[in-house]
Amino acid sequence: MNFQSYSASRVALIEAAIGESLVQYQKTASLRFAPLVEAMSYSLSGGGKRFRPLLTLASAECLGFQAEDVLPAALAVEYIHTYSLIHDDLPALDDDDTRRGKPSNHKKFGEAVAILTGDALLTEAFGQLARLQESTLFSPKHILSAFELLVSAAGVRGLVGGQFIDVTLEQTQFNLPEVEFIHIHKTGAMIVASVLLPARLCGLEEKKSALLKRYGAALGLAFQISDDILDAESSNRYSRGPRKKARPAYSELMNRAEMQDLLNNLIDTANTCAQALGDKSSHLVDIAEFIRNRKH
Ligand code: FPP
Ligand code: MG
Repeated sequence: MNFQSYSASRVALIEAAIGESLVQYQKTASLRFAPLVEAMSYSLSGGGKRFRPLLTLASAECLGFQAEDVLPAALAVEYIHTYSLIHDDLPALDDDDTRRGKPSNHKKFGEAVAILTGDALLTEAFGQLARLQESTLFSPKHILSAFELLVSAAGVRGLVGGQFIDVTLEQTQFNLPEVEFIHIHKTGAMIVASVLLPARLCGLEEKKSALLKRYGAALGLAFQISDDILDAESSNRYSRGPRKKARPAYSELMNRAEMQDLLNNLIDTANTCAQALGDKSSHLVDIAEFIRNRKH
């Protein structure tokens, strides 16, 4: 199966599962909460690439599982990603009026609701992950280990910690190690977790887990560099509000050719690690190639 049909079929699975999860909230929560579920749905269905949940499915398939087996874990990473974008767009952070070509969540529903929508998605992410208990494939011990992984990727030691450094770092402190530190945490940690969740769920041996981790870490940085390249090439990619100050981005420190070199090296590293995992890793390789060449 070529990458285009692979990713279209897996994204369709992810989107169907997101749709079902929202129907469940509408069914089981009081009708009074319906507008909150609608605000969750607005951002969860907002045209994202589904890059992180796709990684979770591809990693699971590389380890011999079916994509469907790990959908709750894929949903958990997409819920956390979505909450982080909603909060990132708020006036206190990036103050972005639009996201994916549509009004950002707070522009559509108001700041208070946007904060709560993010809170709900973050919390419910772990509710989704807990649904793995319904499968006989994974032991409680391994599911707990997946929880630990996601907590550390999303919390102080990952996404939130990285975002904290991003918003508090002064422009005079921008240098390559600092920018890399931010991106390893803010963007990379959730990408590593997306790849590693299936490994945790099956208690994968250390050597193979380390390969998947190195694949995820290289891909995470590569993803951010490709994002910075696209951002630098398109002045209107993000509509910035009052926090218009420079961001700690690779484009502040490197020219286009240097960024492309670094991106290529990271993708090569990611692919070497994936290939060492055997022939079922071809989708992981294709995903890395997609990042090398992506245009959006
Ligand atoms: C774009 O992802 C997003 C990133 C590159 C990560 C940026 C990190 C943050 C905004 C962290 C914010 C954290 C907190 C705690 C507020 P993408 O291109 O996959 O987006 P898509 O889902 O629209 O495709
Ligand atoms: Mg931002």
